[in-house]
Amino acid sequence: MTLQEKIDAIVAAAADGVGACGELSQISDLKVKFLGKSGELTALLRGMKELPAEERPAAGKLVNEARDKINALIDEKFASLQARKEQERLKSESLDVTLKGRAVARGSLHPCTLVKEEILSIFTSLGFSVAHGPEVETDYYNFRQLNIPKDHPARDMQDTFYLGNDILLRTHTSPVQAHVMEENKPPIRVVCPGKVYRPDDDATHSPMFQQIEGLVIDENITLCDLKGILECFAKELFDKNTKVRFRPSYFPFTEPSVEVDLSCSVCHGKGCRICKGTGWIEVLGAGVVNPRVLEMSNIDPEKYSGFAFGMGIERIAMIKYGIPDMRILFENDVRFLRRFK
Ligand code: DAH
Repeated sequence: MTLQEKIDAIVAAAADGVGACGELSQISDLKVKFLGKSGELTALLRGMKELPAEERPAAGKLVNEARDKINALIDEKFASLQARKEQERLKSESLDVTLKGRAVARGSLHPCTLVKEEILSIFTSLGFSVAHGPEVETDYYNFRQLNIPKDHPARDMQDTFYLGNDILLRTHTSPVQAHVMEENKPPIRVVCPGKVYRPDDDATHSPMFQQIEGLVIDENITLCDLKGILECFAKELFDKNTKVRFRPSYFPFTEPSVEVDLSCSVCHGKGCRICKGTGWIEVLGAGVVNPRVLEMSNIDPEKYSGFAFGMGIERIAMIKYGIPDMRILFENDVRFLRRFK
């Protein structure tokens, strides 16, 4: 066998070996086998010294060319296996950047908060300021100062949670009127939102609910001013065709007193399920501030007069959003709350 044939056989064997190699980890074995110290090519090189001196350069050249060829074959294989491995890795770690992200759940304001803020913003835009009072009250502010003496039958209208002798959870926001009148001189224009408490629990009553109290004290304030303000308020809160109706009523702290009805925003007065066929919905109590209440707060009833009103926030929310049962407002069922986003 000539040297050339031997070399061709080695290169052919190396090409087969490289062709059969399917793993990166086998590459170094191939190198050892065909190019290493105990490989056939190295043996050929070692045998070179037995050749006549004039044949050595040509033989050496042949062996070196074979070596380069095998090296190139192995390098090429290495590169292709490496590329395949990279592709596999990219595939397995792939990230679909076109997928939709997961939305972060966002809370929303409770319908009563929405209604309260809307009511407050209507009144503040009419020049009212906002005042707050304590939820734990004394008998004096909750009742006596509002012309409801100890054994007055009006106390039955507002069953009370007592915390002690003379200390109670306020049954309405009307006591904030007295705090405001003690701390401010007329003219007074305030709205007072807050929680109130009564031992009631059914579809239209809750032991805790919210009210907004309104109070205006100035010279020459009459029932007409009350009606004008409430009409303006109702048209803003519901719609511009909303009508306001006063019915005579009784509250110890106002004289005269009225119950205020609004024309039904659902049927516009025709009569429907919401207004129980009457076309009107009762929304608040109001009246001209009783002069005795002014006197108790050291405001001269000869010089000043005023009006006051009080409304339930849950009730307004129920009317505005068509909510049939007040308890839904307190259940915190997210399926219900989500609808107010
Ligand atoms: N405080 C009354 C209640 O809780 C509502 C009310 C009626 C407030 C007449 C007023 C008013 O200021 O003048 O039922």
